[in-house]
Amino acid sequence: MSHFGSDVREGLTTKPKFLSSKYFYDKHGDELFRKIMELDEYYLTRSEFSIFRNEKQRIQELIAGNQPFRLIELGAGDGAKTMVLLEHFIRNDIDFTFCPIDISSNVLNILEENVRTQLPEVSIEPMVGDYFKILHDIKVENHQRNIVFFLGSNIGNFPQELALSFLGSVAQNLNPKDMMMIGVDLKKDPAVILNAYNDKQGVTSDFNLNLLTRINRELDADFDLSCFKHFPTYNPLTGECISYLISQKDQKVHVRALDLQVQFKRWEPMKMEISRKFDLEDIHQLAEGSGFNVVETLYDKDKLFAESVWEVK
Ligand code: AVI
Repeated sequence: MSHFGSDVREGLTTKPKFLSSKYFYDKHGDELFRKIMELDEYYLTRSEFSIFRNEKQRIQELIAGNQPFRLIELGAGDGAKTMVLLEHFIRNDIDFTFCPIDISSNVLNILEENVRTQLPEVSIEPMVGDYFKILHDIKVENHQRNIVFFLGSNIGNFPQELALSFLGSVAQNLNPKDMMMIGVDLKKDPAVILNAYNDKQGVTSDFNLNLLTRINRELDADFDLSCFKHFPTYNPLTGECISYLISQKDQKVHVRALDLQVQFKRWEPMKMEISRKFDLEDIHQLAEGSGFNVVETLYDKDKLFAESVWEVK
């Protein structure tokens, strides 16, 4: 059975039920996420972009050194934010190769096309596939300094244990003096955070519900989307913003491809996504707990978001 099928089975048969947000990103999910990034309420993308615009010189000073390096971006997406930095590096004659890594060859083709037309001077080597395998191959080659970018607060979508083990494997696959720059969303007014995951147009709700549509399509299920309600929560103690889909009635769902009948009680929650928020202490814990030292952390003017630059211990 596919990973998707076995993960859905696990999530729907565990108490409390859960589904993994890593499956949000089918074609329609990608489109919805692009819309989310443009929402007034979703400040994350704009804030990170403004750090890149305002701090590009400082970022260059922190990471570039005077040797050629490889800039590896994990989960690069369309690379729009990174482009600001690439342009700055080119203007300053920095010698680097841009290696965006993504699981989606589709997205990487778009990114490559954008870079080739907008910044033809950039030497680009896109790599499709699994982060760890590629990082391992890079380590084996071992003749250039590596700078890894992991942006957009993607790390917030990992539960803490997984975040530490993920970053720990990145550190293990790098060499001493290699660096990482990680974009993280910061703890702030809980109302601002909740709004970002509860937009007025309902795009975030559609983004969550789209996973049920995907299960209907790919696993021949019969989720009735109108019977589930998007419910985001934020816990200021843990910094965890967790979204649920709540079953609005007693109902049965049949997932034919898994030969599985699932019973939902009225008001039963199904956990969909965690988007963790951090403060400076959390950032240090994350870095030091996974084999890095924090070199410097940069902020936007309202301190909504941070880029933290780390060095392998
Ligand atoms: C991709 N990730 C960092 C987004 C986030 O903020 O957790 C996904 C998202 N979920 C709802 N809105 C955006």
